[in-house]
Amino acid sequence: QNCILLGVPLDSGKRRRGCLMGPDAYRTAGLERALRDLGHSVTDRGNVAPAPFHAKEHEKLHALEETIAWTESLAAAADAAMDDGLPIFMGGDHALALGTVLGAMRNAEKAGRPLFVLWLDAHTDFHTPQTSDSGNLHGTPLGYVTGREGFDGFPVIDSPLPHDNIAMIGLRSVDAAERAALQETTVTYVDMREIDESGIAKPLQRFLNKVAAAGGMLHVSLDVDFLDPSVAPAVGTTVPGGATVREGHLVMEMLSDSGLMTSLDLVELNPFLDERGRTAQLMVDLTASAFGRRVFDRPTRAY
Ligand code: ARG
Ligand code: MN
Ligand code: MN
Ligand code: MN
Repeated sequence: QNCILLGVPLDSGKRRRGCLMGPDAYRTAGLERALRDLGHSVTDRGNVAPAPFHAKEHEKLHALEETIAWTESLAAAADAAMDDGLPIFMGGDHALALGTVLGAMRNAEKAGRPLFVLWLDAHTDFHTPQTSDSGNLHGTPLGYVTGREGFDGFPVIDSPLPHDNIAMIGLRSVDAAERAALQETTVTYVDMREIDESGIAKPLQRFLNKVAAAGGMLHVSLDVDFLDPSVAPAVGTTVPGGATVREGHLVMEMLSDSGLMTSLDLVELNPFLDERGRTAQLMVDLTASAFGRRVFDRPTRAY
């Protein structure tokens, strides 16, 4: 693979600060080295910056103009990077996906291929600016790219991402308005109960089969809070009962086996909340699994 690292020190998607330190934590934890050791070519393009903006106070939404400015610059950066290789966005909070998924949509459109999105998260992030009670825009990227109403000022979504092309896995904190809206759609949503009852591999493999059958491109968005806080404490929105280290690696190994992933977000890492870098290190190790690191080479199992 030709891996392109892009730092995204975006911290505007919520009020608690610290995700702007994420890119440097990934660099310090050795992401580039880990990918090189697996035989990939890696280029670190440095950090993306937001487009120029004028900050205004909004009665509810936090840092609206700044987040719009990031969405514009990230969509362009993502689209351009995907022409050259497989971009890895080192976040930054989940509001960065407003831009990275939009950029991936543009790139897939150019390529004439359908885009699919795998959302690994405790949360659905399916709010609109109106339905959000927190006013934190990191809770809205899937609402935005699916063409929900109310994203005034953001780049216009001409052809929304189809609900059929989205899978959310790891859910355990869903707001009432999000649940109601989501249940009207054909989005695949897998909560922790389903994972407990039938394992994480089956729903993931079903989705990957769908992507492969459609000849699709696959954007993966990995939120630190997908993982259990006991193993990944460096995140502002911890929710107990998350994925284990083993489930995390299994997901990433299956993604690598599939060969389908075309772009990757690493989001919500807040190094200010970390313990001796362990969350940054785990995220790097999970990324390595997604790019081919294995204990033993073995044939892929059928689920
Ligand atoms: N649903 C909650 C909200 O709207 C939490 C969103 C958390 N999102 C995230 N990317 N961590 O504020
Ligand atoms: Mn999220
Ligand atoms: Mn989350
Ligand atoms: Mn909320």
